Amino acid sequence: MKKKFETLAIESRLSTSAFREQSPPIYMTSSYSFENAEARAALFSGDQEGYMYSRVSNPNTDDFATKLAVLEGAENGIATASGMSAIFAVFAALLKSGDHILASKSIFGSSRHVIEHILPQWNIGHTWVDIHDTKAWTEAFKMNPQLVFVETPSNPSLDLIDIDWLAQLCHENNALLVVDNTFATPYLQQPILLGADLVVHSATKYIDGQGRVLGGAICGSQKQLEKCLEFVRKTGPSQSPFNGWVLSKSLETLAVRMDRHCSNALQLATHLKSHKEIEKVAYPHLPNSSDYELARRQMRQGGGLVGCFVKGGLSRGRAFLNALQLHSLTANLGDTRSIATHPASTTHSKLDTKQQLEIGITPGFLRFSVGLEHIDDIIADIDQALFKTKS
Ligand SMILES: Cc1ncc(COP(=O)(O)O)c(C=O)c1O
Repeated sequence: MKKKFETLAIESRLSTSAFREQSPPIYMTSSYSFENAEARAALFSGDQEGYMYSRVSNPNTDDFATKLAVLEGAENGIATASGMSAIFAVFAALLKSGDHILASKSIFGSSRHVIEHILPQWNIGHTWVDIHDTKAWTEAFKMNPQLVFVETPSNPSLDLIDIDWLAQLCHENNALLVVDNTFATPYLQQPILLGADLVVHSATKYIDGQGRVLGGAICGSQKQLEKCLEFVRKTGPSQSPFNGWVLSKSLETLAVRMDRHCSNALQLATHLKSHKEIEKVAYPHLPNSSDYELARRQMRQGGGLVGCFVKGGLSRGRAFLNALQLHSLTANLGDTRSIATHPASTTHSKLDTKQQLEIGITPGFLRFSVGLEHIDDIIADIDQALFKTKS
């Protein structure tokens, strides 16, 4: 029987202890003891499988990574300490001096920083491409890239790219496609099944879903993961056993949480679209949005984030944030609690105004991470803040 997403998300690969606990135990240990010197030698030589040291592997982090890989439709997965460590591990493991990376301009600020300021230290070049410009993508392959990196939907503008189309283009040009699937999660979109070679995650966001732990993951084929695994094991951005346990438990409820995040977000986006104080709304599953057709094809639902452009620019945007009562102002997203962010002065503040505008970040652009509160209360909070800051 081919099991469905929700069922696969609840299965644990961990066996219970003598106490037969219903919830899998946490293997909170830095190392493992060996029965004898021969067993130790066999593990170190690779002749035998098993656990020896938690930087290398741990039952809880393995449980999380293998479950996520199943949900992504990938052959295997690697758990990492954070989303950024997953992204950096992929770049560091798969690129070498003289290589080139193509990346969408619409990506998370720290990912951009790694490509723009850290990779060049090792002579790894890059070309930024407008996510919507198909001609520019085709042209950019003249740079002979080894790797292409995109986020879809992107942070914070919620722009989409056709993964199936880009994967074909990458493979015709012998490049690997890496997709950051943080915003969609495998419940809404499975990039590997659309042709991507690797998927990376900030599990800190919707996968945890309750603002408790940091975590990351890389999913893909065994072949592509081998070098990444070696990099993580040797350099140490490993996930803590406790975080692996939390994240594996969190996957159990991902589908129901995402259903509610998405329905709340769609209702909020629909409400804001006709609001007099709002210039424009960004939400992939909003009819008339520029990516609507693609979003319907590629994503099961539109996700839990809504972007909006408030009339009055920067000063109004700031005043609006200060007038919110239910929404928290925090650097995270994907939490049960609704969160409001001003990308121009936070996540993307390192970009100059021109670079911000190129990816749709105007001074009045706000991003809502729509939580699991009742939608009436979420809308009421935003409405009162818009009313209070009306000029
Ligand atoms: C799309 C995306 N990728 C990666 C990251 C980095 O994840 P972490 O904070 O877990 O390192 C973030 C963080 O906001 C993100 O939004």
